[in-house]
Amino acid sequence: MRCQGVWTYAYMLVAALLMCVVAGAAPKKPVPVPFGKNYVPTWAFDHIKYFDGDSHIQLSLDKYTGTGFQSKGSYLFGHFSMRIKMVPGDSAGTVTAFYLASQNSEHDEIDFEFLGNRTGQPYILQTNVFTGGKGDREQRIYLWFDPTKAFHSYSVLWNLHQIVFFVDDIPIRVFKNSKDLGVRFPFTQPMKVYSSLWNADDWATRGGLEKTDWSKAPFVAAYKDFHIDGCQSSVNAKYCATRGKHWWDQKKYRDLDDYQWRRLRWVRRKFTIYNYCMDRKRFPVMPRECKRDRDA
Ligand SMILES: *[C@@H]1O[C@H](CO)[C@@H](O)[C@H](O)[C@H]1NC(C)=O
Repeated sequence: MRCQGVWTYAYMLVAALLMCVVAGAAPKKPVPVPFGKNYVPTWAFDHIKYFDGDSHIQLSLDKYTGTGFQSKGSYLFGHFSMRIKMVPGDSAGTVTAFYLASQNSEHDEIDFEFLGNRTGQPYILQTNVFTGGKGDREQRIYLWFDPTKAFHSYSVLWNLHQIVFFVDDIPIRVFKNSKDLGVRFPFTQPMKVYSSLWNADDWATRGGLEKTDWSKAPFVAAYKDFHIDGCQSSVNAKYCATRGKHWWDQKKYRDLDDYQWRRLRWVRRKFTIYNYCMDRKRFPVMPRECKRDRDA
């Protein structure tokens, strides 16, 4: 009897320890988050369909309109992700975007743009970062999978030290805080999270050569897991109360770890199509933050 008591106690101790380990191991695997918890439609409400309550949604684009949605809250820093299955089949001319943007004139923006293609031809993932209204920081990659076949997760980590773009938890781009080099970094303007599907056949596919084939409409992109773990702020607030208290604000997330740097180099070596930091025609003088980009 006494022994049993000891064992029960031991089990409880082990269980408690395990729970601590699990709780401390951030980032946590997000529990699927329904659309309505964090987002509302922005325009063309009738072009959004909801499934399983609203844990899964579809955006559709036809010749009349595209559609989109935005976060209810504004955020200063955080970790933002969603799982998306891109428009299948002939998606040439369409763009599916997932981005963060502030709402003022000298705006900050963090962009994922998925450029569609003809059936069987590869999508391009274009990323960009705007700070204080200045963009022109495009990078383009091919993905190592077909993004129309299954849901994949796309996420942004944004803290005072870096902005990281992830595809299925593999970093594909890092924008370090290069304030010391005289480059603005987004840290005072709260951003909302947006996603949209629209027609961009004037530039998206093969530079605009491939036009949207409207006989294939509607074009449909599917979404799940609308996870946001950010520091919520009013649109005008320059700081937020919970700063420093989130997992993504901890020391560990100030830089990529060795494994992540290796994965980033792998993406760069194998999948890069375009990097503004390497474009000497467009930028005879390398943009200052590119010094950090090359460290990758
Ligand atoms: C579309 O396919 C063509 C031919 O394979 C390719 O050159 C292009 O990069 C692909 N993607 C886009 C968005 O144009």
